[in-house]
Amino acid sequence: MTALRFTPLTLTNGLTFKNRLVVPPMASQTADLNGLATETTINHYHNLAQSGAGLVMVEYSHINLAGRSESNQLGAHDDTCLPGLNQIATTLHNAGVKTGLQITHCGGKDSAGISADIMGPSGITVPAYDRVLPTPRAMTLDDIETWQQDFVNGAIRADKAGFDLVELHCAHGYGINQWLSPLTNQRQDQYGGSLENRARILLEIVSKIKQAAPRLAVMTRIPGQDGYPGGLSHDDMGHVSQWLVDAGVEILNVSSGIGGWNRPKDKRGEGFLVEDAAPLTGTTTAAVIGVGGIESIDYIETILATKQVDLVAVGRAILAGPSEFAIRVMAQHK
Ligand SMILES: Cc1cc2nc3c(=O)[nH]c(=O)nc-3n(C[C@H](O)[C@H](O)[C@H](O)COP(=O)(O)O)c2cc1C
Repeated sequence: MTALRFTPLTLTNGLTFKNRLVVPPMASQTADLNGLATETTINHYHNLAQSGAGLVMVEYSHINLAGRSESNQLGAHDDTCLPGLNQIATTLHNAGVKTGLQITHCGGKDSAGISADIMGPSGITVPAYDRVLPTPRAMTLDDIETWQQDFVNGAIRADKAGFDLVELHCAHGYGINQWLSPLTNQRQDQYGGSLENRARILLEIVSKIKQAAPRLAVMTRIPGQDGYPGGLSHDDMGHVSQWLVDAGVEILNVSSGIGGWNRPKDKRGEGFLVEDAAPLTGTTTAAVIGVGGIESIDYIETILATKQVDLVAVGRAILAGPSEFAIRVMAQHK
């Protein structure tokens, strides 16, 4: 019998992955200071393709200069980024792998202090366990329109560069997460207040991308919950997920929220965020990805067999040695 990790998966838009393994987006910070991919970036993705995973995601890429959170971050903010992005996508396609570009704006989570104009839904500092962040200014309705258009333009560039899908980064306390979360969005207009209002900016972006780049599948990296007191709950994210799928999202990549992507202190073992993904699996037409310290064949086969997730993301265990991972986990025997 074929092991479940080798079974293909077809999304509702017809895009097929050859197996259930995903390399999640992981910032290599190998771009040049203008956000352009370098030879090191291309080699990095060539190496990740050796893992055997059917989908290799490309790291967070800013949609405008104010959205950068780190130096040497990859950019999707300008057409000068297109040749490098195209080279990454072509490298991965030549290796028989599907690929998507993660696009992001850091909002108030500007860890490196490099943004000239730090902005967020409200003038509220993003709470964080591990750092003190700057206080953003509250965005105007004009800022919102520009922001949305910048996300759409980033998606159009992902399309032109040949990616199979675009991922909106809505997790880990970055910009869109700040809009969704009641901790950081305390606006009183149509973009704040109720959960529906807080999700509006994102849902509008998804609809606009679906119109502007209909070939692309859309993935959202969402928090299963905020992981921070008073933040987004599982219940909230159940509603948001349904709205996202109604707006056209084909994959929900479930990670963490304002609490950050690291292992929560009280969680042991593999799959430390899988229990946040599981409640969403099978509840919509979207495929669900789970993540968090996953590395063994047994664990991967178990969460697929018990339908806790549709796709399994393996980050650091692949980063540590893509070819070794292929030999250990992707070989056609147990
Ligand atoms: C070096 C590094 C860079 C990361 N960069 C990103 C990123 O660009 N976007 C993102 O959504 N998550 C990022 N993450 C989080 C990973 O996608 C993943 O969720 C996390 O590493 C947990 O999975 P793992 O335990 O299998 O590594 C990064 C993680 C690491 C280790």
